Amino acid sequence: MTVESMVQAVYLVAAVLFVLSLAGLSKQETARRGVLLGMTGMGLALAATVALALDRSERPVGQTAGLILLVLVVGAAVGTWRARTVEMTQMPELIALLHSFVGAAAVLVGLGSYLSEPAGSGGAVHLVEVFLGVLIGAVTFTGSVVAFGKLSGRLRSSPLMLPGRNWLNLAAVVACGGLLWWFLAAGTAGLVPLLLMTVVALALGWHLVAAIGGGDMPVVVSMLNSYSGWAAAAAGFMLGNDLLIITGALVGSSGAILSYLMCRAMNRSFVSVILGGFGTGPGVAAAGGDAEQGTHRETTALEVADRLTAARSVIVVPGYGMAVAKAQYPVADLVARLTARGTVVRFGIHPVAGRLPGHMNVLLAEAKVPYDQVLGMDEINGDFGSTDVVLVIGANDTVNPAAQDDPASPIAGMPVLEVWQAREVVVFKRSMATGYAGVQNPLFFRENTAMLFGDAKDQVELIVQAL
Ligand code: TAP
Repeated sequence: MTVESMVQAVYLVAAVLFVLSLAGLSKQETARRGVLLGMTGMGLALAATVALALDRSERPVGQTAGLILLVLVVGAAVGTWRARTVEMTQMPELIALLHSFVGAAAVLVGLGSYLSEPAGSGGAVHLVEVFLGVLIGAVTFTGSVVAFGKLSGRLRSSPLMLPGRNWLNLAAVVACGGLLWWFLAAGTAGLVPLLLMTVVALALGWHLVAAIGGGDMPVVVSMLNSYSGWAAAAAGFMLGNDLLIITGALVGSSGAILSYLMCRAMNRSFVSVILGGFGTGPGVAAAGGDAEQGTHRETTALEVADRLTAARSVIVVPGYGMAVAKAQYPVADLVARLTARGTVVRFGIHPVAGRLPGHMNVLLAEAKVPYDQVLGMDEINGDFGSTDVVLVIGANDTVNPAAQDDPASPIAGMPVLEVWQAREVVVFKRSMATGYAGVQNPLFFRENTAMLFGDAKDQVELIVQAL
């Protein structure tokens, strides 16, 4: 058995492990197993790729092995350091940055493959692979860099509104089509059209994402995730690497499905995200009134503790503020105590609560909340009417009745958790400030709502003490 055929067999096993990993990640109970399967698959893939590189090496094997070891050590050290230091709330920007690496890699693989083998063994098909790989990679690279800049506050988050922006995008796509034709006709002398297209694609990626408001960036990051998958798949075609094609397609399609689900949960148009027209118009954060709409009632931790003692059923609705305050541990403690007293307590999770898909589920799992107490929006929305107390902990937009009642609201049509149906609602936040979408929340001024101001963690701890 040659090294080559052994490597192909290992690649096949790794591909199956990646599919099983994705299947595992779709449920909380099996997520840990999913991650382990993915890590095993990646370990096998890395080992097989190194074996293949050593087998094909034209240099002395020791030299190649040394070079590979060097980059592995540097990459692993930087990756470990970042993974250990990143805050959960900075995760989207880190992911955006990682996508830019995939884009850059696809561009470099494409250019390298053309320079080392301009005639290519696959003829026109190979040339098209190179062209598309570089194109998708370049768009992903600059798009991800801009997304990273906006999310980390290094770039202005407001959408860039160049005149005729959709025409500019169309012109860039048409120019790339023309350059592809030139590139194919030029054969081995196609470096100029290839480089010209790279420049156009870099500008296109930058413009597509710059035109989107910072507020909508997480959906864009998930879309770029999908693009980075397709860029990797294109690199797989160029290198003749089946595993890279399979992995790229898995990332590309799962990223696209995730973007679609996020768009649906936020009531956004999927097509306009792909076309970079997502932040057009006045921009979500800028529109909509943030003026107060009546008077609100304040409460104290002691009063809330009393109400919880009397309540038979309680629903906790966490949001971004719970993540900021790192309140998940005292919240889990509070829920455990209430459950032990015989109160029925459940969590209601909105699909886009927080800033990442599954953000709340991860935090609650970290605090060891039993999975059967954590319900999704569709599962729990019918139960608010028969609930005594709802604790809204750092959630805002996801519980805003204006999404249903006010067709002019920027979040009109977004499905929300109908917490106001409960007998009493307690909202934990620090001020009357608006949430992510920048719109005031009429829930705060309803008769059955009381505001508990202060840091969510401190307030929940006070309630636990009082209980
Ligand atoms: P948000 O609407 O973002 O509101 C969070 C609230 O938490 C704020 O009103 C803030 O009020 C409060 N808060 C912040 N720090 C706090 C602290 N230390 N203690 C107590 N409260 C604190 O939250 P949400 O309901 O989770 O909605 C998520 C929003 O993000 C939606 O608009 C959604 O569309 C958007 N989004 C989500 C995702 C994903 S995938 N999850 C992706 C993109 C966009 P104060 O400042 O007054 O404390």
